[in-house]
Order: sequence, then C-alpha cells, then structure tokens
Amino acid sequence: MNVFDIKTVIMTPLIKLIIKHPKIMKAKIFMKAMVYFPEKISESYDEKIQKSEIDYMASILDGLEYVDNKPQKIIDLCTGTGIAAISAAKYFPKAFVEGIDQSYEMVKISKEKAKRQRIKNLNFKKGNAANLLYKDNEFDLVITSNAPIYLSEISRVLKQGGEVLVSFSFSGKAFIKAEKEIVKLIEKNGLTLIKIKNVKKGVFILGQKRE
Ligand SMILES: C[S@@+](CC[C@H](N)C(=O)[O-])C[C@H]1O[C@@H](n2cnc3c(N)ncnc32)[C@H](O)[C@@H]1O
Repeated sequence: MNVFDIKTVIMTPLIKLIIKHPKIMKAKIFMKAMVYFPEKISESYDEKIQKSEIDYMASILDGLEYVDNKPQKIIDLCTGTGIAAISAAKYFPKAFVEGIDQSYEMVKISKEKAKRQRIKNLNFKKGNAANLLYKDNEFDLVITSNAPIYLSEISRVLKQGGEVLVSFSFSGKAFIKAEKEIVKLIEKNGLTLIKIKNVKKGVFILGQKRE
C-alpha cells in the first residue's frame, strides 16, 4: 500500500462523518486544514496520483458522459491541479471552464498544465468554494472532485436546470450506502438527484437544480 492509498483509508470515515454532519466543513479548523495541507502536497500531487493503484480519473470521466444539458459555462470547484477542469474542457470543447482553488500553489500548477497542453477554453484562479464570488444562476455545470462539497453555494451559482457533478476517486461504497442522506442533503439545497453510480473504487453523483 503506498502513501496515497493509506490516505484513502483515512478518507472513508471522514467522508462518512461529513455526509452525516456537513456543518463540519464550515468549522474554522477544517477550513484551516484545507488551506495548510494542499499547499504542502501540491508539488507531488500529480506524481502520487500516477503512482497510485487507484484509477483516479475513472469516476469523473464516467460522470461527464451523463451530463446532458450541453453546458456552456462550467466551474470546477476545489480544482487542485486541475484534473477535473481539464477533463471537462476536453470533453466539452465548446464550453468555457473555470477552475478555482484556495491554494495559490495548486492554481499555479494547474495554469502551467493547461498552458503546456495548449487548452484554451479554461482558466484557473484563486477562490473559496464556500464563498464564491459569482452571481446567482451563472453556470450550466458545476463539477467538484475529491474535495469538500459546499452545496448551498453550488446551488446558488447554478442556473435553473443546471447540473452538478460530484466525483470521488475512492470510498465509492460509502457514498452508495449513504444515498438516502445524500438525497436529503441535495434536496435541501434545491437540487434533485439524477444519478449516483460506483465507478471502480470511486463514485459520481449527478444532480440538477430544480426549475
Ligand atoms: C484532494 S484535492 C482535490 C483536487 C482535485 N479536485 C482532484 O480531484 O484531484 C482538494 C482540493 O480542494 C481545495 N479546497 C479545499 N477547500 C476549499 C475551499 N473552501 N475553496 C477552494 N478550494 C478548496 C484544496 O486546496 C485542494 O486543492
């Protein structure tokens, strides 16, 4: 088991806790940890993913196939090194994708990656997913992968009929088992569950903002 896989063992109970008590994500200590650790791991993040036995991309790539509202404006929250944002920009070449992360180092790395790969339909910037500097009803699709999920902000910035794709590369079974709680959480935020699917060790959850 490599270091990255050990983290997934820690992540499963954490994910279960967060589904049951989503307010934890707004706690100051959680927010601080979410600033501190990404800055530390940013340099080696992609290398660890490549070395991991987990098929990191499987759930986001599968989930994108189920998005059916032909998105023009997409945002990837907590983009990290831009993995999901880059996938979405390639999958929807006519759309424009914005990736945001609160870690300056992560934003720097994702910008360099997009430049190297000559992907023109995306942009990365620093931002806080818990307090987005966007107007209401701005995006056709919000994606977020392997990160805390701020559903009320997601719902606010989504257009009516817009979709949200949440994906995790691991701990998929924990999400499927918590499906009822997830449905309650997303409904509370004006969304409807379209699909929840295990993909390899991961999962994706597709929701839609009610008209
Ligand atoms: C485990 S990484 C996942 C990155 C990427 N989405 C992926 O799938 O590889 C989690 C990322 O979420 C970011 N993050 C955590 N809380 C955030 C917040 N409130 N606003 C913006 N970014 C946040 C961290 O900086 C980190 O880059």
